[in-house]
Amino acid sequence: MMSVLTYQQRRGEIETYFDRTAMAAWAALTSTAPVSGIRATVRAGRDATRNNLLSWLPADMHGMRVLDAGCGTGALALAIAARGADVTAIDLSPQLVTLAAERAAGQPGAARVEFRSGDMLDPGLGRFDAVVLMDSVIHYRTADVLAAIGQLAMRTNRTILFTFAPRTPLLGTMLTLGKMFPRGDRSPAIEPQSERNLRRHLTHAGQKIGRTQRVSSGFYISQAMEVITC
Ligand SMILES: C[S@@+](CC[C@H](N)C(=O)[O-])C[C@H]1O[C@@H](n2cnc3c(N)ncnc32)[C@H](O)[C@@H]1O
Repeated sequence: MMSVLTYQQRRGEIETYFDRTAMAAWAALTSTAPVSGIRATVRAGRDATRNNLLSWLPADMHGMRVLDAGCGTGALALAIAARGADVTAIDLSPQLVTLAAERAAGQPGAARVEFRSGDMLDPGLGRFDAVVLMDSVIHYRTADVLAAIGQLAMRTNRTILFTFAPRTPLLGTMLTLGKMFPRGDRSPAIEPQSERNLRRHLTHAGQKIGRTQRVSSGFYISQAMEVITC
């Protein structure tokens, strides 16, 4: 069960991090500007994850309503809208949402994206045919991730595509190393998830698990999972 306290506390930390502390770094990472070696591997990994998620969605998405939950600077939302879907792209960070809308302006599909800031779990957003969460729940505890997927599933007609940080020895080492070098702009902790545990709980809750795909690129590890809600 979701603990409102842990969810809200972590949500506040995430908003501060993405809206203030890491805003400039995140803007650079998600742009085409040159970045350092480590960040280049992260960028390549994120491109691979985005392309993988897109490969799981129909090529023609006209008539579909899609939620990009935790849209960041909006690349996935825009790519989905370019396939014809009507997209609600929401993020906690008003600054990232503003940047996303600026970047989208004039691009194919831009007119089909409604960018807004707020909580992706807001029931007022309505029903969707598909929900995508690319690296949007990596900072939440397992119980909160499961509760978030459960809440979204009740309002999703077809599919939820989400990614998580898989619990692997390599990720464990990277997280430990990261903690050995404290920095001012430390992000909220990444919460590694056991794939088996996620599968078990989601299946128990009545969800059907579809495809899964792991991307590992330098300091970036992310695993995508498809939840079929229809
Ligand atoms: C690692 S970033 C990924 C952004 C984007 N999905 C991408 O892949 O480029 C995670 C994003 O999720 C957003 N986020 C986390 N929890 C959220 C929530 N409860 N509601 C809305 N956005 C949230 C953060 O503000 C952040 O921009």
